[in-house]
Amino acid sequence: MARRKAAGTPSLRVLFATSEIAPWVKTGGLGDVASALPAALAAQGHGVRVLVPGYPALLAAFPDRMRIASIGHIAGAMLPADLSSVRLDNGVTLLLLECPGYYERLGGPYQDRTGQDWPDNVLRFGLLSKAAALLASTASPLDWRPQVLHCNDWQTALAPAYLHYRLQPVAASVVTIHNLAFRGLFPHAAIASLDLPPESFVIDGVEFHGHLSFLKAGLQFGDRITTVSPTYAREICEHIHGFGLDGLLRHRHTVLSGILNGVDPVEWNPATDTLIDRNYNLDTLDAKATNKAGLRKRLGLLADASAPVLGMVSRMTHQKGCDLVIAAAEPLLEQGAQFAVLGSGESLMEEAWRKLAERHPGAVGVRIGFDESLAHMVEAGSDVFLMPSRFEPCGLNQMYSLAYGTPPVVRATGGLADTVVDLTGPTRKDGSANGFTFRDATAPALLQSVQRAIDAWRDAPLWREIQRNGMARDFSWRHAVQPYVDLYRQLTGA
Ligand code: ADP
Ligand code: GLC
Repeated sequence: MARRKAAGTPSLRVLFATSEIAPWVKTGGLGDVASALPAALAAQGHGVRVLVPGYPALLAAFPDRMRIASIGHIAGAMLPADLSSVRLDNGVTLLLLECPGYYERLGGPYQDRTGQDWPDNVLRFGLLSKAAALLASTASPLDWRPQVLHCNDWQTALAPAYLHYRLQPVAASVVTIHNLAFRGLFPHAAIASLDLPPESFVIDGVEFHGHLSFLKAGLQFGDRITTVSPTYAREICEHIHGFGLDGLLRHRHTVLSGILNGVDPVEWNPATDTLIDRNYNLDTLDAKATNKAGLRKRLGLLADASAPVLGMVSRMTHQKGCDLVIAAAEPLLEQGAQFAVLGSGESLMEEAWRKLAERHPGAVGVRIGFDESLAHMVEAGSDVFLMPSRFEPCGLNQMYSLAYGTPPVVRATGGLADTVVDLTGPTRKDGSANGFTFRDATAPALLQSVQRAIDAWRDAPLWREIQRNGMARDFSWRHAVQPYVDLYRQLTGA
């Protein structure tokens, strides 16, 4: 990718701290963002280093990495670690925080293989936060000094507290909320093992209702707070979406802003996607049919020209409204719709989908698990994409589906409200309609909206318009990166 920045503007030095990064370690959208946003910054000529734990998948991917520093015993109970570095082809440098005792295990980044949180997460992500703070301070073992430390979600949000209580910062800090539901709560006693002073355990410190909260610490001490869409930035200041942190967010509203995520223009582009059966673009939408046939084959769905395929790729959780789809499924099946579902999560929801598939062979295709290539096929091969989230900080899948000519049906909340334009008379006329939205988090409201989508799908010329409207809008990080650059520049006075 060509690297450039506007002539005369100095490049920025950014340390991006994250607990996951696609394609190596990913449980959701944070992994995608942590790989694509730094790449977009590097493409503009900025110096970006991404600090991430040395999980087995990363260590295996980069056997030739270079050890560049050791982070000796940090006070508290955290293990020592090494820092190694590797430069990616896209210009981003990965800094791997290597600590075998914490990160080299089989299982997920946060949970073991049975879905239980790792019992030492407080230390694992305490170390990650402390290392991020160290690299952004006068005590850094590296010569490279960032101007901005960009923390993401609770796993790195303790870093600004370390910069406040324990270290001398050289960088301004940004804390991005990808999901306020995960607050990083731990017992009070953890303070000592994390090397935080007892006086930090106060209401304007790291204390949250008698617990330690990593995220609260970041929201309290970060120089700037961002979240991943303008609408979610407003919603989290309200009691109903605030998870108890709305008061603090209202208090800090002058440093809070919403910046919409982008789409990785390399990974999620139907014209070049290597994980789908046939590439296509806005002018060759007929080729999408090959992907529909391929998706049906993979999930055991019947080839029936009159049946729209409703796709879903999602964590199966209350947030994502999977239960609403299950509740609305029977009437949609009676009308001849088919389902192509990929996801994993709460066992009751997984079970409900399995049962539905058993009852409706050939019409409900379900894959429980995490499967990157099937995710791409669901985006490319479905007719309609479903995302009825109860709340959605940004949501990437609806943007992927817009880019893939698979109009989404979404609940109008958070980033879904900021990206999906409901089909109405006026939005059809002005060419902005790209999907279907509904307000109430109920099965009847979802059902009505999906029925509208199916009616539109049966009207081929109208459907093409909606598909094209979605595909024509550029959601890529090439544009989406600019507000971050502006924010970093404001912070550094550059
Ligand atoms: P969230 O981060 O809340 O889960 P997003 O829409 O921001 O939601 O991002 C989800 C990302 O994770 C997308 O890239 C999506 O394709 C991917 N994903 C979610 N579930 C699965 C799955 N079961 N298999 C493969 N990819 C998945
Ligand atoms: C979170 C949110 C999702 C967002 C993603 C990346 O997982 O649930 O809405 O798109 O982070 O920012």
